[in-house]
Amino acid sequence: MTQAEKTVRLQKIIARSGIASRRKAEELIRHGLVTVNGETVMTLGTKVDPVLDHIKVNGRHLKSQPPDMFLMLNKPLGYISTLHDPAGRPTIKALVPKPSLRLFPVGRLDYDSEGLLLLTNNGDIAQACLHPSHHVPKTYLVKIKGILEDPEIQQLRHGLMLEDGPTAPAKVKKAGKAEANSWVEITIHEGRKHQVKRMFEQIGHPVIRLKRIQFGPLNLGTLPPGQTRYLTDKEANALRHLLLEPESPRLPKRQPIRSTGKLPPSTPVAPSRPRPAKPNPIRRKRTLSPSGTTGQARPRRRPVTSRTRVNVKT
Ligand code: URA
Repeated sequence: MTQAEKTVRLQKIIARSGIASRRKAEELIRHGLVTVNGETVMTLGTKVDPVLDHIKVNGRHLKSQPPDMFLMLNKPLGYISTLHDPAGRPTIKALVPKPSLRLFPVGRLDYDSEGLLLLTNNGDIAQACLHPSHHVPKTYLVKIKGILEDPEIQQLRHGLMLEDGPTAPAKVKKAGKAEANSWVEITIHEGRKHQVKRMFEQIGHPVIRLKRIQFGPLNLGTLPPGQTRYLTDKEANALRHLLLEPESPRLPKRQPIRSTGKLPPSTPVAPSRPRPAKPNPIRRKRTLSPSGTTGQARPRRRPVTSRTRVNVKT
């Protein structure tokens, strides 16, 4: 093969890496966001050698990597959202298909929380999902003790003061009522430890059940508890999009906090042992402690974002 035969159009290489469609890659080139060997290239159709040339998109080096893998798990209650637990509790490793052992979870769900947990082998996308600047929305369906009143909904919407600082505005809507309890759907853009439990605790409604139903562009849908599925190309590309957004719009400014007249919860947020699995004979209504998880190592950051095309089954 001659050198000329080894060169490929720049937009094709970018699209092949999976970070952008061909059309989007052309846009990136036209906007001067692509450099080859340190020089900005704005001419569409420029041919480069994908092996020898050093290509950067939006400041990130493009190099061939193993294909991305993205797996969605519906985490059931009673599993730690890490791949290993020093305390020997069941971990999500038992639920993830064997060939996917190199996958690691993006963020965490408490031991006693359930729902959508993303796993990937792409450290950059994991970081982007977790980084506060991207404000990735996370929606939870929450069962709380007591009936949630409108002023309390307003408090959650405006933001309230937790022991580690004020929360950003949240989207909140009632999702049902059951005798002395309420179901609420809440969307937050932060990812602080036990945040949802602490928010409801703060307004006097301990959480009984907590299920994540959306994570950024991903929807849990009807995936049964304990089951996994690979993301579709469309879903994976929606996640990759986060990498092309160095600065996402600011969150709306938090409204002044109205005092609840209550002290911040004194419950420490440090990890604690889970409650025993055997049923309580008194059948008291369960509430979830804001400290139901163990710490989890952050995924190792990989230096580069781009990969070869995703090759996943759905
Ligand atoms: N907020 C919590 O309090 N717990 C979770 O598991 C997720 C969000």
